Amino acid sequence: MHSALSALVLSLPLAALARVHADSALHRRHTAIAHSRRNAYQLTDHFQGQSFFDDWEFFNQADPTGGYVNFLDQQAASQAGLAYVQSDNTTVLAVDDTTQLSVGQNRNSVRISSKKSWNGGLFIADFFAMPHGCSVWPAFWMVSSTAEWPNGGEIDIIEGVNNNQGNQITLHSGADCLLNSTIQTLNSSITNIHCASSPGDDPGCSYGLTDPRTFGHEFNMQAGGVYALEWQDSGMTFWFFSRDDIPCDITDGAPDPTSWGTPVAVFPNTGCDMASHFFNQSLVIDTTLCGDWAGPAYTGSGCPGTCQEAVADPTNFSVAKWMINYISVYQ
Ligand SMILES: *[C@@H]1O[C@H](CO)[C@@H](O)[C@H](O)[C@H]1NC(C)=O
Ligand SMILES: *[C@@H]1O[C@H](CO)[C@@H](O)[C@H](O)[C@H]1NC(C)=O
Ligand SMILES: *[C@@H]1O[C@H](CO)[C@@H](O)[C@H](O)[C@H]1NC(C)=O
Ligand SMILES: *[C@@H]1O[C@H](CO)[C@@H](O)[C@H](O)[C@H]1NC(C)=O
Ligand SMILES: *[C@@H]1O[C@H](CO)[C@@H](O)[C@H](O)[C@H]1NC(C)=O
Repeated sequence: MHSALSALVLSLPLAALARVHADSALHRRHTAIAHSRRNAYQLTDHFQGQSFFDDWEFFNQADPTGGYVNFLDQQAASQAGLAYVQSDNTTVLAVDDTTQLSVGQNRNSVRISSKKSWNGGLFIADFFAMPHGCSVWPAFWMVSSTAEWPNGGEIDIIEGVNNNQGNQITLHSGADCLLNSTIQTLNSSITNIHCASSPGDDPGCSYGLTDPRTFGHEFNMQAGGVYALEWQDSGMTFWFFSRDDIPCDITDGAPDPTSWGTPVAVFPNTGCDMASHFFNQSLVIDTTLCGDWAGPAYTGSGCPGTCQEAVADPTNFSVAKWMINYISVYQ
């Protein structure tokens, strides 16, 4: 059953692309409306296609979150087939799914960071698929490139472990930052309000998303979708759109968050001074295994055996792949 599913997942991106093209007449109509808006967002960065890796650095040190992985440098990752761009312009970041390891050995994986960092803006990430499964801890996130963690902040846009259903969106910060929940969100609930984090105590402040299409297997079964983060002085607001629900203005490159309806997560600046807690944020995409979150959570996850046993078996990682359509940043 597992290999049939993975074949389906890997075939999804092209089907999804075909649908995007079929809708182009509709998109053009919506563009005309979006372009007439005042103060429209302007595209400043677009990461997609054959030059994708030019704008990212490969992190190749020990995993700071304690995972059983070797993060490969760019040359090694490329040679091992763990980081590449397909001919259809989809960028793939994979975990080694061929090497049988002995229990306790680390598995090869990839962690990349954008060379650029930001102090606000509108971030749009379109992924066709994401890693998931027993022992797997994928994350698409932002972290300060200039301050020592947690000062400067961390913004976790997509994150979860093992067979989780539903994404978790989390902020980590220095002292004196609370999630003040006064704004309505859709299909989510607050799991913690204390954003202040430290190495031994770092749940952060977070929303759990209840729609299974926001994470893992069910995300991939829909050919993924779009996560959007609008980061302003007034706070951070997140939306999720499953593949079939992506608004035309996003696909057209003229995004208008005021038209997107109720967000899935809002962190207003009423409980947290955003500008002093979050700055110089680089984008990061990685997949680790076990580590500080997936490890302790393994026992209650319904996965067989131990987390380290799962890492040893390459068949567990056939769907542990990020398939990235594009990431765009607007100001
Ligand atoms: C991939 O991107 C390049 C550069 O933007 C473009 O010329 C090419 O048509 C794209 N290929 C596909 C299959 O979309
Ligand atoms: C999301 O929330 C809306 C409104 O409460 C509800 O109708 C819908 O079923 C929810 N969707 C999911 C997938 O939970
Ligand atoms: C939370 O926000 C509300 C309204 O936005 C404000 O009245 C209240 O003082 C805030 N609470 C805290 C603890 O900042
Ligand atoms: C952000 O980065 C810039 C450029 O590296 C640096 O000059 C500035 O001090 C950093 N900001 C903070 C608050 O550390
Ligand atoms: C993952 O690895 C474990 C340990 O070897 C094994 O028991 C399990 O069947 C594997 N799961 C899948 C889905 O292949």
